[in-house]
Amino acid sequence: MSEILFEKYKDYFRVGAAISGIIYDEDFNFFGHKPPQDFVKSLKDGDIAKKHFNLFVAENDTKMQRIYTAEDTYDFSRADKFIKFAKESGKDIRWHTLVWHNQSPQWIFEDGKGGRASKQQLAERTRKYIMEVGKRYSDVICSVDVVNECISDKKFNLRTEEDHSLWQEILGPDYVDNAFIWAKEAFPKSSLVLNDYNLEVIPGKRQGFYELVKGMKERGIPVDTVGLQMHINIEDPAVEEIEKTIELYGNLGLNVIVTEMDVSVYTQMEEAKKDITQEILDRQAERYYKIFECFKKEAKNGILKDVIFWGVTDALSWKNNFPVRGRGDAPLLFDNKGNEKPAFAKLIK
Ligand code: XIL
Repeated sequence: MSEILFEKYKDYFRVGAAISGIIYDEDFNFFGHKPPQDFVKSLKDGDIAKKHFNLFVAENDTKMQRIYTAEDTYDFSRADKFIKFAKESGKDIRWHTLVWHNQSPQWIFEDGKGGRASKQQLAERTRKYIMEVGKRYSDVICSVDVVNECISDKKFNLRTEEDHSLWQEILGPDYVDNAFIWAKEAFPKSSLVLNDYNLEVIPGKRQGFYELVKGMKERGIPVDTVGLQMHINIEDPAVEEIEKTIELYGNLGLNVIVTEMDVSVYTQMEEAKKDITQEILDRQAERYYKIFECFKKEAKNGILKDVIFWGVTDALSWKNNFPVRGRGDAPLLFDNKGNEKPAFAKLIK
């Protein structure tokens, strides 16, 4: 039996990971602060990523905020470092993400005179951005998150200003279609993904997303894949809900990929910081195992193509600070020191 995670699943799906800049960028800093060198040196994430995962995505360095610094001005320095690292490691590469209401630069939504950008201004900026990114990277990108998190958690239709998004507000509801049309031109060989979270958790959101993507297919918009982020926890949602969600989109003739998986040990936002006991780790292992059995089934059904973890070791997981700053978490397959957790052992058996 293989001890390499991606080899273990090679007949089913690729197994990917999001890679933090701390791993490949010697200038990495967090809001201007460089992490201590001994911490950086202690990290095993780079070696583990190269060994166990065959698909890389940048955790932050390919987001618009990092790149689109001003009108017609692009800073590809950090994205280049990520792409170089992924290429030298011999991995397939995803792009996350083109159009999103978070981690996008504020200036694109402004007219430069204190007001809001016009529809034409924002459309042109978006089109140019997508083309510029495609020109530089489309040859090496197999899969692109074209639009991320566009469905409201409350209303189950396209986000509005109330849900912190100006995209629909300024461009109108066909902005999602247009982003895919431009992405097709910019990334003619890549798989084009509509990505979102909580689709397996909130049935109304799952349905709202279904209606959006079904309409896109009917209008001939070149979306071919649904991305399920899969930020879940050790209890919820039930595996049956995950299965139902994958099959719902699969039945539209779309591929499904899991784009940002992690399994938090906390089930409630309000839950206080707790010790992560052996019992919790064993439960997490069982949970990962059952979900991966479902993933294997949906791969055999011809629907599920990739499973990507949002990080490599618990040391760098975004869940350490989300949704509660400083609470810590342990949602991945490798612990803070880079040791294999029970969940890893269960998935490799
Ligand atoms: C997160 C990163 O992991 C953090 O480092 C960053 O501070 C905020 O964004 N959904 C997404 C990802 O689509 O881009 C987010 O990544 C996690 C939630």
